Amino acid sequence: MTCLFVVFLVFVVFTPCLSSRITTKKDCIFNVLDYGASGDGETDDTNAFKAAWDEACGATKNTPTLLIPIGKTFKLQPVHFKGPCKSQSVHVNLQGIIIAPRRDDDWKWSDNDRATWIRFYDINGLVISGGGVIDGKGDSWWSCKSNKKCPKPSALSINCCPDLKLMGLTSINSPRNHLSINQCNGSFISDLRISAPDDSPNTDGVDISESSHMVLQNSIIGTGDDCIAINSGSSFINITGVICGPGHGISIGSLGKNGSYATVEEVNVTNCTFVETTNGVRIKTWKGGSGYARKITFKDIILQHVQNPVIITQQYVDNHSFGSSSPKRNKTNYGSSSAVALSDITYKNVRGTSESEEAIQLICDKNVGCTNIVLEGINIKSSNGGKTHATCQNAHGTFSSCTPNVPCLD
Ligand SMILES: *[C@@H]1O[C@H](CO)[C@@H](O)[C@H](O)[C@H]1NC(C)=O
Ligand SMILES: *[C@@H]1O[C@H](CO)[C@@H](O)[C@H](O)[C@H]1NC(C)=O
Ligand SMILES: *[C@@H]1O[C@H](CO)[C@@H](O)[C@H](O)[C@H]1NC(C)=O
Ligand SMILES: *[C@@H]1O[C@H](CO)[C@@H](O)[C@H](O)[C@H]1NC(C)=O
Ligand SMILES: *[C@@H]1O[C@H](CO)[C@@H](O)[C@H](O)[C@H]1NC(C)=O
Ligand SMILES: *[C@@H]1O[C@H](CO)[C@@H](O)[C@H](O)[C@H]1NC(C)=O
Ligand SMILES: *[C@@H]1O[C@H](CO)[C@@H](O)[C@H](O)[C@H]1NC(C)=O
Repeated sequence: MTCLFVVFLVFVVFTPCLSSRITTKKDCIFNVLDYGASGDGETDDTNAFKAAWDEACGATKNTPTLLIPIGKTFKLQPVHFKGPCKSQSVHVNLQGIIIAPRRDDDWKWSDNDRATWIRFYDINGLVISGGGVIDGKGDSWWSCKSNKKCPKPSALSINCCPDLKLMGLTSINSPRNHLSINQCNGSFISDLRISAPDDSPNTDGVDISESSHMVLQNSIIGTGDDCIAINSGSSFINITGVICGPGHGISIGSLGKNGSYATVEEVNVTNCTFVETTNGVRIKTWKGGSGYARKITFKDIILQHVQNPVIITQQYVDNHSFGSSSPKRNKTNYGSSSAVALSDITYKNVRGTSESEEAIQLICDKNVGCTNIVLEGINIKSSNGGKTHATCQNAHGTFSSCTPNVPCLD
């Protein structure tokens, strides 16, 4: 009798989303405070988050919601939120603040994975919203220059989460890149705020890889590295309404590192503004790679004091890739090795100011080259009132209404 009663209680209290007949929608909210999180910014709240997640992920109906409430600061060790979950969609309502331990605190790595602080993995219909903040306390990592001695983690990685929705998240001061999206087809990402100092190393805003049919819109990103990097295996990517700066701009690639085969196609970057970035719109591929990047459009782009507004580097090398004697980005030093093919690249309505006079650089490989590059309605003036110019190598295509003119395109 007692035993049955307890079983009944456990059923009602701990499986609240099992049946909508005996519970209300409210019962599908799994508040981390109810699982022992303190939210004082000091206590390790990881276990409470894991316990709340396990129940949210195991719940079957009514779109279970993991609630991280407002007005609290939660300190989390590296943590994996794993699926597959039982319901078709799981919400993470992040309203509060999540902070990482500082580097000299005792990081308790999970699953021997030291690449990521917070990971979401293998979850269908994951929705993350709520306007909250994650703070990677990156300043405690950046001073350690050696990536070997202290491999820095990404703040947030989302892998294998089809139909992801990520809205209204603020991410500051990641030890390495802020947000990595990998193998998530059909994602909708909106209203991100990402920031880190302009001299913080490798703090990319958003890295996208192996994902297709993604929209990333209306976001403000300023870091020490790429605002957005679109890497291999990505297609049908729509980036729009992004304000980037400081940082290294929006980049396709780098692709083809260490001889790899890379593919990117069908990417639109539209209505984006670059403020005092080192690059504006960039395509960067490594010497010795293979594959392609094609059908890429940069349209309605505004540049404010950008160092290299329009740049293609098809045969990138650095000192580490070919031994210490390789000259860095030596534009004349193109060997006969392979390259990632670049084609159907369109720049339309790109205007504003360049810090360098070389506003357009299309530097392509002499064997593979870049084909069907189209420049239309370009107006890039020098910040200091001087004249801008374009440089090309092995770049083929057409231009019209361009300042600077691009006569080097053939
Ligand atoms: C994602 O989309 C790409 C391109 O459409 C497809 O090749 C890939 O199999 C899809 N991945 C998943 C996990 O559905
Ligand atoms: C890119 O823009 C073109 C022309 O506006 C449009 O036809 C195409 O569907 C867009 N692709 C993506 C992935 O948004
Ligand atoms: C992609 O962006 C363009 C704006 O250039 C917009 O017209 C189009 O509808 C977007 N595509 C999707 C799938 O949202
Ligand atoms: C362009 O992007 C800005 C944000 O940078 C947004 O406010 C505006 O609505 C966008 N315009 C169009 C036409 O999409
Ligand atoms: C580069 O590729 C080679 C051969 O595929 C591999 O053995 C090596 O580990 C790779 N190096 C890096 C840094 O990925
Ligand atoms: C690359 O190597 C050259 C020659 O050894 C050296 O002068 C340069 O400083 C190196 N660059 C970087 C970024 O390490
Ligand atoms: C670039 O490479 C060419 C050819 O190998 C060489 O002559 C030149 O000195 C190199 N330039 C620099 C800056 O290393």
